[in-house]
Amino acid sequence: EKGNFEHYMLKEIFEQPRIVKDCMRGRIDLKVGQISLEGLKNHTKQLKAAKRILIVGCGTSWHAGLIGEYLIEEYARVPVEVEYASEFRYRNPVIGEDDIVIAISQSGETADTIAAINLAKLNGATILSVCNVVGSSIPRLSDGVVYTHAGPEIGVASTKAFTAQVTVLTLMALFMAQNRGTITSSQLIELQTELSTITSKMQTVLDVNKAVKEIAKRISAFGNCLFLGRGIGFPVALEGALKLKEISYIHAEGYPAAEMKHGPIALIDANMPVIFIATKGPSYDKVISNIQEVKARKGNVIAIATEGDKILKEIADEVIEIPAVNECFLPLLAVIPLQLLSYYAAVMRGCNVDQPRNLAKSVTVE
Ligand code: M6R
Repeated sequence: EKGNFEHYMLKEIFEQPRIVKDCMRGRIDLKVGQISLEGLKNHTKQLKAAKRILIVGCGTSWHAGLIGEYLIEEYARVPVEVEYASEFRYRNPVIGEDDIVIAISQSGETADTIAAINLAKLNGATILSVCNVVGSSIPRLSDGVVYTHAGPEIGVASTKAFTAQVTVLTLMALFMAQNRGTITSSQLIELQTELSTITSKMQTVLDVNKAVKEIAKRISAFGNCLFLGRGIGFPVALEGALKLKEISYIHAEGYPAAEMKHGPIALIDANMPVIFIATKGPSYDKVISNIQEVKARKGNVIAIATEGDKILKEIADEVIEIPAVNECFLPLLAVIPLQLLSYYAAVMRGCNVDQPRNLAKSVTVE
């Protein structure tokens, strides 16, 4: 049921703080300072010994995978590769018994992801999955599963399933770090404590959505849009671009901000809105220079910024503020204004938000 919301997508966007909280319930223990993940408990040996982890998925789930790569490498110090399930499936990948494959899927029924799992299984890899639909095909094919518990997602554009996937991957990264001894117990407690405050920050981001509506109005008049970010902000940019194109049919591209000078900068003029993930963090100064490059070419800059950022207020055309957060948890906050932007832009363009043309909720054909 949509309740008071006009569309399922909007309802699902607003459900996110609660979903993320549910997703952490019973898995984080601040008193003991340990992460417990039922679905992984029989695989701690393999996770400890793993020399490499392969993540497969499609669409939004693949974006969550890119965030997972960042987190697992940061905390558990295991090399991670992220692949489109469809590409993995159709080459001759090097994979064997020592490998762990993490398959990510909301529906658990995506044909390409199932095919990738079957290929990895055939080669003896351990299959773990991050899934939303309990008892669907992917969990049944997996050796271990961590459910996202986001509840049914009706909107074709994935929103709450994405933030739940990112939450699970964060917990998995910390779980692996705890098992592999790549994190100290005080660090672990610190991170868990910060993670447990993320839902109230997500709520804050949702509460400022009026500003986003105005910006969406401007974007809805353009035919193109660029999304730029660096580090963990890059997959968020990709996700923002996917959301915008799938429901509003505005052509959008996500790029690492530093890649702009290798090509996309040629597109910049007064008709090109550019959305930057420009929060305070390790690449902040670099992103500021990228913004200046866009401004010098008369591009329209919309910045997702950390609360209270004065520099961006000066140089960007529009600023959407989000609370300060540890860089590793940034996607959980930064993606929300992007979801809302695409939602409002699509509504303003008269698009069928919950059921965009040519798309199905789960893609069961290869
Ligand atoms: O059910 P899955 O997570 O396996 O689905 C993967 C993609 O088809 C899905 O994320 C798709 O890209 C969404 N429409 C994105 O909003």
